[in-house]
Amino acid sequence: MAIGTLLYEGKAKKIFSTENPDQVVQYFKDDATAFNAQKRGTIIEKGVINNKVSERLFRLLEQGGIRTHFVERLNDREMLTKKVRIVPVEVVVRNVVAGSVAKRLGLKEGSRIDPAIVEFYYKDDALGDPLVNDDHLRLLNVATPGVLRELREMGHAVNKVLTPFFTERKMQLVDCKLEFGVFHNKLILADEISPDTCRFWDVTTGESMDKDRFRKDMGKIEEAYQEVLARVCG
Ligand code: TMP
Repeated sequence: MAIGTLLYEGKAKKIFSTENPDQVVQYFKDDATAFNAQKRGTIIEKGVINNKVSERLFRLLEQGGIRTHFVERLNDREMLTKKVRIVPVEVVVRNVVAGSVAKRLGLKEGSRIDPAIVEFYYKDDALGDPLVNDDHLRLLNVATPGVLRELREMGHAVNKVLTPFFTERKMQLVDCKLEFGVFHNKLILADEISPDTCRFWDVTTGESMDKDRFRKDMGKIEEAYQEVLARVCG
C-alpha cells in the first residue's frame, strides 16, 4: 500500500491519500487532548491500541449489519478506510449519566439511562462543539431531517451491538461518541471507536477505563488503555 499525501491532521489522527480515490489511510497518534485542546499530553501506545480496538469494533458492527468505513488494518498505527465526507455532527449515545450531561442537567453520575438517549453536537472547534438540536442543524444546513433521523437510528443500532459485547467483557458502555460520513450517497459509520471516544466502566470496580483518566488526571492511563485492548482483542 503506497501512502500518498497528508490530507488532514486532527488532534488524534492523520489522514493520508492512497492511489485509490475512494480510500484513505487513518494514522493513529499517541497525542491526547481534552477540553477543546486546552489540555494536551501523550498516552504511550494509544495510537496502536485505538487502531486495534477500532478494528475489532468495526468488524463486529459490520457483522451486525451496520455499514462502516473500515476496509482493513494495515499495521500497528494505520487503518485503510473508505474516503467519506464527514457529516459535522458528533452523535453521542448515552446509557448511563456521566460527563457533560450530569453537569448540564444536574443529574447524578452513574444513574442508568434506559432507553438510551442520543445527543447531537455541532463539530466546530471555534465554537467548542456546542450541543444542538435538529432545528439548529437544519438552520446550519448541516443535515436534512431525513439524515438526522438516520443518524439517530444508526446511533441506537451501534449501541445495541456494542453494549452486550462490552458486558461480556465485564465493561459497562457508559456512552460513546460516533461520527458518520457520506460514501457514494450513503451514510456510514466513520472515525474511530476507542477509549478516546467512549466511556467504559469496569463492571466489578466501577473504575474508568477510558480517556476520563486523562481528562481528570486520575493516573494509570496507559494501564487502563492496555486493559481495554486485552479485553476487547484478547
Ligand atoms: P461528554 O459527556 O463530555 O459530552 O462526552 C460524551 C462522550 O463523547 C464520551 O464518551 C466522550 C466522548 N467525547 C469525544 O469523543 N470527544 C469530545 O470532544 C468530547 C467532549 C467527548
